[in-house]
Amino acid sequence: MNDTATSDRVIIFDTTLRDGEQSPGAAMNLQEKLRIAEVLEEMGVDVIEAGFPIASNGDFEAVREIAKVTDKAIVCGLARATTGDIDRAAEALKPAKRARIHTFISTSPLHMKYKLQMEPDAVHQAVADSIKRARKYTDDVEWSPEDGSRTDHDFLCRCVETAISAGATTINIPDTVGYSIPEEFSGLITMLFNRVPNIDKSVISVHCHNDLGLAVANSLAAVQAGARQIECTINGLGERAGNAALEEIVMALNTRRDVLAFNCGIRTQEITKASRLVSGITGFAVQPNKAIVGANAFAHESGIHQDGVLKHAETYEIMTPESVGLSQSNLVLGKHSGRHAFRDKLSQLGYDLGDNAVQDAFRRFKELADLKKEVFDEDIIALVDDEVVRDRERIRMVELEVLCGTYHVPPKARLVLEIDGKKHEGNAVGDGPVDAAFNCIKLLFPHDTTLQLFQVHAVTQGTDAQAEVTVRLEEYGKSVNGAGADTDTLVASVKAYLHALNKLLVKREKSAPGALSA
Ligand code: KIV
Ligand code: ZN
Repeated sequence: MNDTATSDRVIIFDTTLRDGEQSPGAAMNLQEKLRIAEVLEEMGVDVIEAGFPIASNGDFEAVREIAKVTDKAIVCGLARATTGDIDRAAEALKPAKRARIHTFISTSPLHMKYKLQMEPDAVHQAVADSIKRARKYTDDVEWSPEDGSRTDHDFLCRCVETAISAGATTINIPDTVGYSIPEEFSGLITMLFNRVPNIDKSVISVHCHNDLGLAVANSLAAVQAGARQIECTINGLGERAGNAALEEIVMALNTRRDVLAFNCGIRTQEITKASRLVSGITGFAVQPNKAIVGANAFAHESGIHQDGVLKHAETYEIMTPESVGLSQSNLVLGKHSGRHAFRDKLSQLGYDLGDNAVQDAFRRFKELADLKKEVFDEDIIALVDDEVVRDRERIRMVELEVLCGTYHVPPKARLVLEIDGKKHEGNAVGDGPVDAAFNCIKLLFPHDTTLQLFQVHAVTQGTDAQAEVTVRLEEYGKSVNGAGADTDTLVASVKAYLHALNKLLVKREKSAPGALSA
């Protein structure tokens, strides 16, 4: 093992914005990526993989803008083993204080033969060439043998040795298809430490996918074998079944220090906030029983468990809700609360808003407090996030009226929209109240998109809870997510639809400036 491998510090490399964004339907816009990058940095992530600059202008721009504003974390851009990819990644990373180029090529027999259609010797040559090219731009270069866990061991050792000689400072071993099991994967890392002569010149990293639900277990097993960087994503987002979940890795390291004697620099209290932000932006709901960040992760239902926790929390709690930033869902403010208390609450919840934004949020809080008996932290978060996403909207809801129920067949909606500052009113029917409201939007602003996802989530408990709705719209193979929150589910649904539609219009404007009509 090398010096890094014998140190107890594990580097946390977050790829939510790259591999995470590769989940179908999880596309994020620039503002959303910047918000996530900011939270990742606050959390203490060591490396932020901000995107794949050659993939699109949007990816390029995201990497460049994140590189500009990131202070402490290393900003990383992905590149295939080609000159064009590497040069583009370097260009995007130029403004970064600390830049890393991550270049990769497939090394498994299956991938070389069918995907790359290259002979192993040509792949081996590309490894050296790509790393040397990347080293012209930065001395922080990571190399990955894609499908590493299904690569022939002799060939893997040969490529890893060459990569390190060519200047790779991190060698990342991916379990690209989530095929490994923990003992086998840690054996692979041990094999590399035993056989690659210059392995002590690099940090060994792992990147595990979750196809068999083993991504976290494989990553931790690799660390026990000497890996010192883990690639992971918030909520385990990522291609297919996703990547290893950052929150699970970090909390396993923190909670089981007795057997996993390693440290990482993550401020675990930021975990819940990061999870909610990523879920809200992508529209990928977190399953209630998901470890660490699921709604039930700290809930105790059975009487025996509740009794035990009340007597002594450790009877059924291996970590505290506070350690992951989950405050007791506390009743915060009522309709008599003042502006000062509201501003204090916002800053406790991590919002740093300007005077006008606080003013708007306060007005909406008062409206909410009139509708809802109890206003919880979660309500305030939903309300402020809802306000933030509504920046720069061309289409806004002014009025909505829906008639439905057993007497109204089919359900009817009347909607007033403000489109580019002008009011338009329309009526439509539908298969249900939501369908009727969405048909009104199509009537007033004709467009040809497919509704891919409609999801409703109650922010807190009770029949007066705010509904948080996510809508995903698709147009010409590109999808966008919209979110809306309100105590009225139909109002929240229309807000979410309009949010997605407004985002699509921004996308259209970028690809064909001036083409802003429906
Ligand atoms: O899964 C994978 O192999 C990857 C590489 C680009 C590291 O995402
Ligand atoms: Zn991956």
